[in-house]
Amino acid sequence: MIIAIDGSAASGKGTLAKRVAAEFGYDYLDTGALYRAVALSLLNAGAKSSNIDEKQAVKAASTLDLSLTQTAEIRTDQVAALASIVAAIAPVRAELLSLQRAFAATPPSGKGAVLDGRDIGTIVLPNADLKFFVDADLDIRAERRTKELLQAGQSVMFRDVLADMKARDDRDRTRSVAPLKAADNAITIDTSTMDAAAVLALALSHIDRVCPSE
Ligand code: DC
Repeated sequence: MIIAIDGSAASGKGTLAKRVAAEFGYDYLDTGALYRAVALSLLNAGAKSSNIDEKQAVKAASTLDLSLTQTAEIRTDQVAALASIVAAIAPVRAELLSLQRAFAATPPSGKGAVLDGRDIGTIVLPNADLKFFVDADLDIRAERRTKELLQAGQSVMFRDVLADMKARDDRDRTRSVAPLKAADNAITIDTSTMDAAAVLALALSHIDRVCPSE
């Protein structure tokens, strides 16, 4: 069973993906962490967000140190913004594609895989068994992200988080390559007024409908 979960930043897609994977003993891949790791390796090499060299970005993706995906450093808004910039470069996406497909084809558990991102249902795994598209109002997402960053000890202001998130959303939705959008056969969940438990319960009801034996 392969489940694709796409959605906007701070929509709750990551939390949902992790919980669905835990529920069934499936493996989870946070594909945003791959783009964030490429961005972090560029920043570590001295790159500036305002002036990204495409060749350098492609090299960073093709020689990516996957251990970076597990670091706290990739979770800053600076890294997120640069991740969204490098994610618009087609050869960067191409470098990361086979890794994502291989994970879904042979998940370590041998049981199933849940991948979350922006283009999982549309490009990476168009034949996924089930696709969700998770979204929420921009203000609510920015509030959630502000809380998360404050809890992580970063000093941020709602106003700045909102502006960054809007810029990132616009870039992710309007880029020419693999833009953020719902796959034709995706189930859309608007999490604006739902907590994580309610989102999980709704997703599980859909999974049960499609695959009652799970
Ligand atoms: O899911 P996230 O916020 O960690 O993703 C960071 C950025 O990476 C996001 O703004 C766009 C990019 N991304 C992408 O283009 N495709 C994916 N499948 C996952 C993330």
